[in-house]
Amino acid sequence: MKKISINTNERYDVLIGKNILGELGAYTLEIFAPCKLCIITDDTVNLLYGDSVFDILSNSGFDVYRYSFPTGEASKSLDTYGRCLEFLAENKFSRTDGIIGLGGGVAGDLAGFTASTYLRGIKFIQVPTTLLAAVDSSVGGKTGINLSQGKNLAGTFWQPSLVFCDTATFKTLSAEIFLDGVAEAIKYGIILNKNLFEKIYTDAPITASYDKLEDIVYSCIKLKATLVMEDERDKGVRQLLNLGHTIGHAIEKCSNYKISHGHAVATGIALITKASHNFGYTDLQSLSLIIDILKKHGFITETSFTSEELLPVILSDKKRGGSNINLILPTKIGSSEIREFPVNSLDGFLKAGLK
Ligand code: NAD
Ligand code: GLY
Repeated sequence: MKKISINTNERYDVLIGKNILGELGAYTLEIFAPCKLCIITDDTVNLLYGDSVFDILSNSGFDVYRYSFPTGEASKSLDTYGRCLEFLAENKFSRTDGIIGLGGGVAGDLAGFTASTYLRGIKFIQVPTTLLAAVDSSVGGKTGINLSQGKNLAGTFWQPSLVFCDTATFKTLSAEIFLDGVAEAIKYGIILNKNLFEKIYTDAPITASYDKLEDIVYSCIKLKATLVMEDERDKGVRQLLNLGHTIGHAIEKCSNYKISHGHAVATGIALITKASHNFGYTDLQSLSLIIDILKKHGFITETSFTSEELLPVILSDKKRGGSNINLILPTKIGSSEIREFPVNSLDGFLKAGLK
């Protein structure tokens, strides 16, 4: 088992290993004395892992409850969030009880947001079961839900007390959903670490049976940990993690969430890098390598959405600050920058990516 310690306002560990789920009870006892725990998960993950996690925690002396919601991004809503809160209140959860977020980013974001607001905040543990949740959403304490006006428009910063990642759970992911996480892993390589990029590039395509998967997960989380510890509240360097996300979120929303987060981010990375190259910020060789690594994994590097469709969504993005917006540009492989653009220049920049 590999361990990464994260020192934010709260200090916590991220544990990564293969076939470690059976040890979850023992590690949970290091966080909570026996108490009520509510597993928040979706219906798919509940069927696959809900009973095992329930039994593992019960056998360790916890009084376990479970709230399962319909699978999918549409459940990351005010409605589901309200139901989670009411489920805890109906079952008389107190400040010393806790939550287990079991599943992908949707379950993790909902579990975290619920934990951060129930009784003004209770402790929670993230048990990510998608690669995307493992390398990104389970670590760093961003929680949230979508509003009808856009993604993640309501949320909090609330760090988990433990992240427990069993990579064996990725075996049941469809290839498409596994790839959502690969897009984020590629992102880390592009923005921060040439070695990671080269490893993924050389061994592409990365699949759930890739024998160095724990190493990739470990490297990604280690990189994220560095940024989160320097900038927990996302005011500066943490924003580098948003490479491809501003356009990616707009693609997700324009597709009515039929295009998933990771696939939309992959296309967003391709488009922002093309625009960045056209404006002279990214060299041609880096652009070619980035498009290549995305194509090696079967990601789509163009979009049929026009700038007229994407721009209004981008302008409603929460990352916009007044008349300017920060975009993340890859300067070369392993290095990137945050550049502020006036919103009235965005149309031209976006069109340069769509050419
Ligand atoms: P998800 O939670 O919807 O999971 C994707 C699909 O995989 C679902 O159908 C789920 O039921 C299924 N699934 C999960 N684990 C499985 C397993 N082991 N076997 C089989 N099926 C499994 O989506 P996701 O891609 O994990 O996460 C996307 C969400 O994460 C988005 O809402 C995004 O905004 C959010 N996110 C948050 C952060 C953050 O920092 N909080 C970062 C990145 C993304
Ligand atoms: N997923 C981006 C962040 O955690 O900041």
